[in-house]
Amino acid sequence: MKYKQEDKNFNRYCVTTALPYANGPVHIGHLAGVYIPADIYVRYLRANNEDVVFIGGSDEHGVPITIKARKEGVTPQQIVDRYHEIIKRSFEEFGISFDIYSRTSSKIHNETASDFFKKLYDAGKFIEQISEQYYDEEAKTFLADRYITGTCPHCGNEKAYGDQCEACGSSLSPIELLNPKSALSGNEPVLRKTKHWYLPLNDYETFMKEWILDGHKDWKANVYGQCKSWIEQGLQPRAVTRDLDWGVKVPLADTEGKVLYVWFDAPIGYISNTKELCGDDWVKWWKNKDTKLVHFIGKDNIVFHCIIFPAMLKAEGSFILPANVPANEFLNLEGDKISTSRNWAVWLHEYLNDFKDKQDVLRYVLCANAPETKDNDFTWKDFQTRNNSELVAILGNFVNRTLVLTHKFFDGKVPQTNNLTQLEKDVIRDVASYPQKTGSAIENYKFREALMEVMNLARLGNKYLTECEPWKLIKTDKDRTATVLNLSLQICAGLAVLCEPFLPFTAKKLSTMLNLPKLNWTDAGKCNLLSEGSAIEKPELLFEQIDDKTIENQMQRLENIKKENALSNAKVEHQKNNISFEDFVKIDIRTATILEAEKVTKTKKLLKLTIDTGLDKRTIVSGIAEYYEPEDIIGKQVCVLVNLEPKELKGITSQGMILMAENADGSLHFIQPSTIINNGSEVR
Ligand code: 2FM
Ligand code: ZN
Repeated sequence: MKYKQEDKNFNRYCVTTALPYANGPVHIGHLAGVYIPADIYVRYLRANNEDVVFIGGSDEHGVPITIKARKEGVTPQQIVDRYHEIIKRSFEEFGISFDIYSRTSSKIHNETASDFFKKLYDAGKFIEQISEQYYDEEAKTFLADRYITGTCPHCGNEKAYGDQCEACGSSLSPIELLNPKSALSGNEPVLRKTKHWYLPLNDYETFMKEWILDGHKDWKANVYGQCKSWIEQGLQPRAVTRDLDWGVKVPLADTEGKVLYVWFDAPIGYISNTKELCGDDWVKWWKNKDTKLVHFIGKDNIVFHCIIFPAMLKAEGSFILPANVPANEFLNLEGDKISTSRNWAVWLHEYLNDFKDKQDVLRYVLCANAPETKDNDFTWKDFQTRNNSELVAILGNFVNRTLVLTHKFFDGKVPQTNNLTQLEKDVIRDVASYPQKTGSAIENYKFREALMEVMNLARLGNKYLTECEPWKLIKTDKDRTATVLNLSLQICAGLAVLCEPFLPFTAKKLSTMLNLPKLNWTDAGKCNLLSEGSAIEKPELLFEQIDDKTIENQMQRLENIKKENALSNAKVEHQKNNISFEDFVKIDIRTATILEAEKVTKTKKLLKLTIDTGLDKRTIVSGIAEYYEPEDIIGKQVCVLVNLEPKELKGITSQGMILMAENADGSLHFIQPSTIINNGSEVR
């Protein structure tokens, strides 16, 4: 069954998902953006008996992996071995139904990527260019951008990287850094000439305009828009090789220390993995015009999949190009960008420790709230609400009521249908429309909408049950009760089929309870999937309530991470510039005692303090009212900066400053001598 017009010309589907870097585990952002939508799409195609191959794998090259290895004192291979296994397991556990999940450090990938490069090279598709790049003379190696640090020319941050300043967000080239330093030796790097191969993307500009801007107006607006802006800015030649010792070696003479750029070899990984899966048969998935190639990716990968990889395929000449690249935007977590380095994420392996067997709950929430057209936010509260008020209250409730009543009134056997009233006829007609509605949304990559349709079918079932009240009807009309429960069971069967792409674990449970055979997508609309008299297993709950405590624990965990991050930022990042001893001795800090304290009216933060500094008694206004009650601090000995210029605050002249230490959570604490000493003692 094909609801999308263009699909009439396709006989098979090659579906790929972005290969995640094997330098860390995967989190909810990965699932929501790429792997769940792709898995829904593929499961749906399989339910329609389409010929489909679903390709995944780890991206095991690139500079960040070498940096991580160096930090840990292990080899890059050890890093990718570790994370490839963790990532692969997470995908399996969440039911991402890849036909293959392989890796780019495999032999077959090495050969495939190397041959691809060689073919383009031999056909004269590259240009060679010599440029100057930073070289570390002690480490005897060229330096990747990330291996060079220095001062940002825009904001003065002394720890900017050669590709980016994380303080002000500017993109940089290493040449722009002031006082550049090699991260390997700490020495100043020197510029050296080096040869690289470039794919002249500018030669493909006309083609891209026709193929994407004219030919693919059907692509998602975010994808089309990004491509348009790239193409309109003018395409430039892109280097496809790097000076690095980790990756696919450049297959040419005299190229020691050079590898293919990770973004050249990674997408070829889709092809290598297909080869690994299918042997010689791989060709039909990549070269037959009637194969629909679809890349599922996140928005940061758009240019690589819509422009650079297609240009590579076009240059090679014998490959098909993607028919669609349904990229998603980003998922945030509780209002902040997900970040591996800040540990701001819900990691899949950790989720499963805390929510055993609840893969489908996360799959549901991430699909219902997927960042399809704009960035979206994952919150634990929303997770709880969607579980309790949607999965439990709508889907779980309908199935459970139907199965419990069937056991109670009909001994767990599908009861017989008797005369149909207009209500049944209407329900049967409505149910029939769901495979088409849901399928059409999936084919148009509108997975949220599709999931909503499935839930609408469960709503329809609930409404029907509530209207007919079989628990009352049984007392007066057993035949009609039988009809109502038969139809409700048929809707449950339809739900088992339609929810399978979204909630595969639930679908399996439900099919087992109903003793359903393997069914096709279109069967779901038929209302005749269960034959009269067939046995239904004892119902077990599909979903259970998630309580407040469980959610509070997750939120607390995130709070703790925030505090740890604030603490390490405070410790590491904000050491101020050095000052001279002469500067230091200008500061006059004395021990002093608080004599009186009162709130400054109409302010939340200020206390007016009378202080005995040992030199005099004076007034100081201090912003500590949120942390201390006036009566609790009278008599405390503190340290005071006494020679700070007087300042007017809320009409009061403040003569000095009480020294406070700020904790990671922002709370303020007095700095006190370890024992009471004379007021006016100098602190130095
Ligand atoms: O952004 C990333 O995580 C990349 N590793 C994606 C690569 S996709 C493909 F080209 F392999
Ligand atoms: Zn900066």
